Amino acid sequence: MESQGLAKPVVLIGMMGVGKSFIGVRLAKTFKVNFIDTDRVIEKKASSSISEIFSKQGENYFRELEFRAIRDALNQKNCVIAAGGGAYTFQRNRVMIDELGISVWLEAKPEILWSRVKDHDHRPLLQKDNSFLKIRELLEIRAKDYSKAQLRFRTDTALSIDSLVSKMRERISELH
Ligand code: S3P
Repeated sequence: MESQGLAKPVVLIGMMGVGKSFIGVRLAKTFKVNFIDTDRVIEKKASSSISEIFSKQGENYFRELEFRAIRDALNQKNCVIAAGGGAYTFQRNRVMIDELGISVWLEAKPEILWSRVKDHDHRPLLQKDNSFLKIRELLEIRAKDYSKAQLRFRTDTALSIDSLVSKMRERISELH
């Protein structure tokens, strides 16, 4: 099936480690549109890492930069966006994303999320020694917001990345 681009930007939401960027790059390729990772946009604009922003200016400041990065990305229209794990838990982001884009929740069990993030130390909300508990707790709290997304897909099944991406493309195209 030849891709026709996207009528609305697709916004991938869900927990740290679920694969938003990995899958987002592939999905953007199949739709032949740009991929935007809002965390990377924030880091580039601020010339500092997410961890530095959290420690120097605080989480609230980061959330403001995140809101602006999502708003700017949504305005670029023909794109797939990977939002940070906390983004969709804020009402103003949710309203904006669902008005201008298609929200897609990527989900996975906490054990799988943990196995994917445990060797990385760039996520300020996860401390090395308690990250599994923290992930489980955050997922429990956030699931009620994540479940408001228009579409949802699991990234912890036996499905290959190619099959998952093509299933996602099909479901997203049905919404157009
Ligand atoms: C966060 C997730 C991170 C990043 C920041 C906060 C969160 O993004 O935005 O560390 O609140 O879950 P990823 O989900 O891409 O790791």
